[in-house]
Amino acid sequence: MKGSNHPYRAHLHELTRRLEACLEGSGFNGALIPAGRPPLVFRDDLHYPYRPNPWFCQWCPEAHPGSLIVVRPGNRPLLLFRQEDDYWHMPPIEPSGPWVSEWDIRVVRSTSEARSDIPAGRYLLLGEPDADWEGLAEANPTGITQCLEYLRASKTAYELSCLAEASLRAARGHLAAEHTWRGGGSEFDVHLAYCAAVGQRDDELPYRNIIGFDRHGAVLHYQHLERERPPHSRSFLIDAGASAAGYAADITRTWVADSGDFSALVRALDATQQRLADNVRPGQDFRTLHCTAHLEIGQLLAEAGLVRCGAEEAVDSGVTRTFFPHGLGHLLGLQVHDVAGTAAAGGGDIPRPEGHPFLRLTRTLEAGCVVTIEPGIYFIDMLLDEARADGRRRLIDWDRVGAMYPYGGVRIEDNVVALPEGPRNLTREAFLALEA
Ligand code: GLY
Ligand code: MN
Ligand code: MN
Repeated sequence: MKGSNHPYRAHLHELTRRLEACLEGSGFNGALIPAGRPPLVFRDDLHYPYRPNPWFCQWCPEAHPGSLIVVRPGNRPLLLFRQEDDYWHMPPIEPSGPWVSEWDIRVVRSTSEARSDIPAGRYLLLGEPDADWEGLAEANPTGITQCLEYLRASKTAYELSCLAEASLRAARGHLAAEHTWRGGGSEFDVHLAYCAAVGQRDDELPYRNIIGFDRHGAVLHYQHLERERPPHSRSFLIDAGASAAGYAADITRTWVADSGDFSALVRALDATQQRLADNVRPGQDFRTLHCTAHLEIGQLLAEAGLVRCGAEEAVDSGVTRTFFPHGLGHLLGLQVHDVAGTAAAGGGDIPRPEGHPFLRLTRTLEAGCVVTIEPGIYFIDMLLDEARADGRRRLIDWDRVGAMYPYGGVRIEDNVVALPEGPRNLTREAFLALEA
C-alpha cells in the first residue's frame, strides 16, 4: 500500500487518533478487539449464523471467528489471525489483501497461543466478552465505549468507499428482484434472485430481506417469503441490503403493476424523498428533518385525497403518524441501525420529539455522517382502526383509503452522505452506474 494518503492507511490513522482521544486519562494502554464467534444453539452442536463484531470490521476488512486485534496507540496494529487445525471445516486462508502491509499479523492455532502473543499492557475489550479473553481486559467501559460510538457516525473516505460498494451490490439485487417480480416469480423466487445477483448468502446480508407483495407491503418488517405467487400481484415492496467489508447498504424500492392512483402516489413519494435527501448536510438537525417529512407527507396525503384536511392539520391531529409510523431514517455504517443515533456529544441522549418514539436519529449531522432517508405511506389495519376510533376518523377519506388498501404501502429508502459540498446519494449513484 504505497503513499501516505491511501484511504485505508488514513482510515487506520483516524481510528488510532479516535482511540487515543477516548482513552485519554483512562490509564488504558490499548484495546483488544475480538472478531467474535457464532453462538451454539441450545442443546445442539450447530451454531447460529456468525455475525462478526462490528468494531473488528471497522479496523480489519477480514473478520474470521476467533481472531483478535490488539491496538496500542504508537504501535502498528497486531492481528492474531486464528487458523485452527480442523478437518471438519475449512480454516481461513491467511490474508493477502493490500491492507496487510499496515499490520503485524501472527497466525495462531489456539486461544492459549493467542493469549501469550498479547503484549503486556492494561487493555479494554471492545466487543462481546467471551471466555477466550477472560481476565485480560475490562469489557466495554461505558465512557470510552460511548466516546468511540459517538465518533463512528462520521465516516472516513475508506468507509465511504465500502458503503458505496455495498450500495452497488444491493442495487444489482434490486434490479434482479424487480425483474423476477415482473416475470411472475413468488416472494421466495425474488429472494433467491436477489441473493444470486448480490452474490451473498442470506446470512451474509446485513439484515433479513423484506420482500412483500400487495398487502404484505403494509407490514413494516414483513418476515415471510411466500412460496406461492398470488394470481395478480399489484405491488411489490422490497427492503434489502448488501454487505461490503463489514459495511451495510439499506435500500427500499416499491413497484406497481398498473398506472393508477397508487402508482402516482409512489412517484410523488419518490420526489418527496429526493427533496428530503437534499437536506442531508452538515448542521442539519435530523429531528427537524423528520418533522419536515411529516409535513411533506401531510401534503401528499391531501393531494392524493386520502385526507380531508391540509398538511398542518394532518400533522397536528396525528393523522400523518397513522400513515407514516416510523422514523425518517437512521445512521448507517457497520450496523444497519448504527450505534449512537441519539447520543449527545458530551454523553447522555438527545430526546426524540414528543409523539415520535421510533425515530432512531436525533443528532445534528456532521460531515461524513451516512444516513438513510426512508419516508413511507402505508395502509396498516391496526393504525387505521385506531384512527377510525377517535377524532381522526373525520379527517380521513375512507373510500380513498379503501381503494389503495390492497397495494399495502410504499417506502423509498436511499443511503446518503452528508458532505460540506452537498449530499452524496450512494444509492441513486449505484442505480445510475448500473444503467450506464
Ligand atoms: N431495513 C430496516 C430499515 O430500513 O430500517
Ligand atoms: Mn433503514
Ligand atoms: Mn430498510
